[in-house]
Amino acid sequence: MESILTETYSIYFNELAYEALNQHLKKERYSKIFILVDENTHRDCLPLFLSALETKLDLEIIEMEAGEMNKTIETCIQIWHSLSELGGDRRSLMINLGGGVVTDLGGFVASTFKRGIDFINVPTSLLAMVDASIGGKTGVDLGVLKNQVGVINQPRMVLVMVDFLKTLDKRQLRSGFAEMLKHGLITSEPYWSKLKEIRLQDSLDTYIFQSIEIKNEIVLQDPRENNLRKILNFGHTLGHAIESHFLKKDEKTALLHGEAIAVGMILEAYLSSKLSGLGPHQLEDIKHTLLERYKKVKFTEEDKEAVLSLLIFDKKNSHGLVNFVLLKCIGDAVIDQRVPHKLFMEAFAYYEE
Ligand SMILES: NC(=O)c1ccc[n+]([C@@H]2O[C@H](COP(=O)([O-])OP(=O)(O)OC[C@H]3O[C@@H](n4cnc5c(N)ncnc54)[C@H](O)[C@@H]3O)[C@@H](O)[C@H]2O)c1
Ligand SMILES: [Zn+2]
Repeated sequence: MESILTETYSIYFNELAYEALNQHLKKERYSKIFILVDENTHRDCLPLFLSALETKLDLEIIEMEAGEMNKTIETCIQIWHSLSELGGDRRSLMINLGGGVVTDLGGFVASTFKRGIDFINVPTSLLAMVDASIGGKTGVDLGVLKNQVGVINQPRMVLVMVDFLKTLDKRQLRSGFAEMLKHGLITSEPYWSKLKEIRLQDSLDTYIFQSIEIKNEIVLQDPRENNLRKILNFGHTLGHAIESHFLKKDEKTALLHGEAIAVGMILEAYLSSKLSGLGPHQLEDIKHTLLERYKKVKFTEEDKEAVLSLLIFDKKNSHGLVNFVLLKCIGDAVIDQRVPHKLFMEAFAYYEE
């Protein structure tokens, strides 16, 4: 696999990644390197990562608590303090070694510390490899509302080392796979069809590469999400509201991001069949494929009402209207679609039938 070029940085895979990193460190002469981990990536990923790192520079490990509930400004404050106390300066480098929580939050901390220091993303979860670590969106949650505070700022490089997935929990792996299925739905019917046949124990390298190419291609054309990039939000308008709702309700039954997005994709596929021409066979194909992989979520009437009221907080709203990304067919998405409210309950009914 070759590396993938973006406008300002490169994404390197497997063996090439360490080579590229070591070269970069030689060239840049950073004053210090900070590696941000959570307790899981500290234990499972850091030893392997350090064994491949060739540098005489000072290394400091900063650990945050794992999990979405720690993707907060309070965690950032602790890390800004650590950076400051450990002698971080404008020539320091931050390496974010972890899932999307670590890369989102670490990217934001680095982008704001001393008005911005270099950072490198080393995604260790499937979701972070194919999605969160690419594209420059960084930030934190505000209460249960996701990603309300942040900046768009690109890393210096992204290093995708697929071996890290060996220690990732199966449920997490499946959650990340939902974003790959989304990549097929919004851009490529052949890719969607291919992914339907993949089992998660198979080697995922080729598909991870392909998903990153798809995401990168979209981001390159529209880095600040004015138009095209919005298609990456397919399944996310309702999906985020569902994720927030269950997180608020009870952390123990909370859904993982990809699990919530899988429900969102079925609901939004239904909306697509009513509003943007998605055919009945493709609609069934989407529902069937997703329900085969992601267990059906039970919604009470109160759950549905709560989800719909959360929709108004979705950051993709502009001028108070809820905008959706819908499918014309599998492989072709349209942005800025307004949806009559009565269709929401119908979509839930279709999901449940
Ligand atoms: N910036 C973006 O464009 C973007 C896109 C999609 C998602 N996101 C964000 O990404 C986050 C979700 O990312 P995630 O699913 O990676 O969550 P995560 O970072 O919480 O990781 C999931 C769990 O797996 C553990 N883990 C990660 N890699 C591991 C490994 N190799 N071995 C063992 N354990 C490992 C983590 O410690 C954590 O407990 C959300 O906050 C979401 O908003 C951002
Ligand atoms: Zn997502």
